[in-house]
Amino acid sequence: MGSRIKILAESLINKIAAGEVVERPASVAKELVENSIDAGATRIVVETKGNGTQLIRVGDDGEGMSRDDALLAVQRHATSKIQRDSDLDSISTLGFRGEALPSIAAVSRMVVETRRAEDLGGTRVTIEGGMVKDVTDIGRGAGTTVTVRDLFFNTPVRRKFLKAPGTEMRHVTQAVMNLALAYPRIAFTLLHDGRHLLDLERHDSYLSRLREVFGKDLMERTVPLVHNTDALHIEGILGRPEIAGGAKPHQLFFVNNRPISNRTLLHAVLAGFETFLLRERHPFFIIFLRMDPGLVDVNVHPVKREVRFTDERFIHDQLFNAVKLSLRAGGVLPTTSPLDRLVERPSVEVRSRPEGRPEEAPISMWQLHRRYILANIKGGLIVVDQHAACERILFEEAMHNLSGKAGSGQQLLFPETLKLNPVQMQVLEEILPLLELMGFGIRGFGKGTVIVDAIPAGLKRWENGKVLIEMVDEMIETGGVTFRLKERLARSYACKSAVKDGDRLIQEEMQILIDRLFATGDPFSCPHGRPTLVKISLEELDKRFGR
Ligand SMILES: Nc1ncnc2c1ncn2[C@@H]1O[C@H](COP(=O)(O)OP(=O)(O)OP(=O)(O)O)[C@@H](O)[C@H]1O
Ligand SMILES: [Mg+2]
Repeated sequence: MGSRIKILAESLINKIAAGEVVERPASVAKELVENSIDAGATRIVVETKGNGTQLIRVGDDGEGMSRDDALLAVQRHATSKIQRDSDLDSISTLGFRGEALPSIAAVSRMVVETRRAEDLGGTRVTIEGGMVKDVTDIGRGAGTTVTVRDLFFNTPVRRKFLKAPGTEMRHVTQAVMNLALAYPRIAFTLLHDGRHLLDLERHDSYLSRLREVFGKDLMERTVPLVHNTDALHIEGILGRPEIAGGAKPHQLFFVNNRPISNRTLLHAVLAGFETFLLRERHPFFIIFLRMDPGLVDVNVHPVKREVRFTDERFIHDQLFNAVKLSLRAGGVLPTTSPLDRLVERPSVEVRSRPEGRPEEAPISMWQLHRRYILANIKGGLIVVDQHAACERILFEEAMHNLSGKAGSGQQLLFPETLKLNPVQMQVLEEILPLLELMGFGIRGFGKGTVIVDAIPAGLKRWENGKVLIEMVDEMIETGGVTFRLKERLARSYACKSAVKDGDRLIQEEMQILIDRLFATGDPFSCPHGRPTLVKISLEELDKRFGR
């Protein structure tokens, strides 16, 4: 008799769903503008009042809806954008869930007015707190206008969490602007309390829209980013280091025109900027990536703010290279190899070249006993300790990530299940947030086991997880989860996961190792204080040969 479990009423289900989609007025603006874009609009007008809860109205000249569709559109899971399971694998529209309109309607008083070009008349649907109150025929131009009033009138708690009108409007403006940047061919207007906040003409390229939004002065302090392969198209602007900093600058990524955030992409850009060399580590950039929709999963986040790539590594490396090449072409990064820069470093002694030597000695390298790398530099040669050098690189990378910047994880094809004793388990759980910052993905804490499904992208050794267990053991041995934890963890990570004596390196690997060593803050010593390299000058050699 009687059951404690009840199926929730439709109206309550909608309110709960709305909690995910409609966080604040800016979410309403974003969802409505996305619908207008998907409807093929060429002009979109957004009007708001107060803090956005009084009024948000989005009007477009897009394809409009029939009377039947207008009624369906405000039902949950009603969408014209996908039909089959397989459609989820290649989404080319901004919307696909059929959630936005019903979610907004559930927490506001909404009016949808719409007409298709081919219909004689249009339709107005009036909804209050999710209930359709009225449907009438109206006359209007082709397109759709959605008016949202009294947002959160029936969810007082959500309303209480809203910030000052200025803050909410900043979010609205940012949301509309992000989409305007991605769709230069659409004209955008944003009116707040009757005042024009944005008035953007139609343009035929990202660059002209960027110039319109950010102004000529700022654009002059950026370098263009362009990179094309069959699989990936990258376009955008990178701020010169002099405009990095101050207040947090714009760092925007668009994947197939959808504004998203992604740690792998951020890592690639920061590495490309050689942010270790920059005093200010927040460069300004706006980057558009276009790829086959089948290569990116947009269905991983309730409001589609995040995406996942099928081949993270490929995208990371392509973007990293593109950024580096653009910065070099724009004169932001020196075009010479870091090896050549070595001779300019004050801590290295440089004497003038003996007469008759070629100006530019080609850089070539040998690996000596699988332990040292020999490299030609202007004034002689350097002998690099491969393990110590790699340790320095990984240490700085880890410290950078641990300071809350973005670490990039590399998904493991076959997740690793690790067995841990109770002490190891407890320490692992305590340092888990730090490990995640470094790029480890660890889940499924069970009876003495965990599953590792991602490891830091820069890691050189993994050995089926032995490296991670050794790190945990080292934390236990050197004093547990106490003093200077980040630094100890970074040092331990660097030491365990770096290339070791006896590892064979190919030419490219040696080149990358040395390039990256000189991009660190302290290329001359490893995190334990041992030297990473020894320099032998030509003069020294000459002397020994009795020249
Ligand atoms: N401005 C508009 N012009 C024409 N059709 C629209 C407009 N807005 C919504 N629609 C129609 O209503 C449907 C429902 O919109 P809704 O935003 O709820 O879902 P969606 O866009 O399909 O998916 P998502 O929830 O991911 O946004 C859309 O699929 C579209 O067919
Ligand atoms: Mg939508």
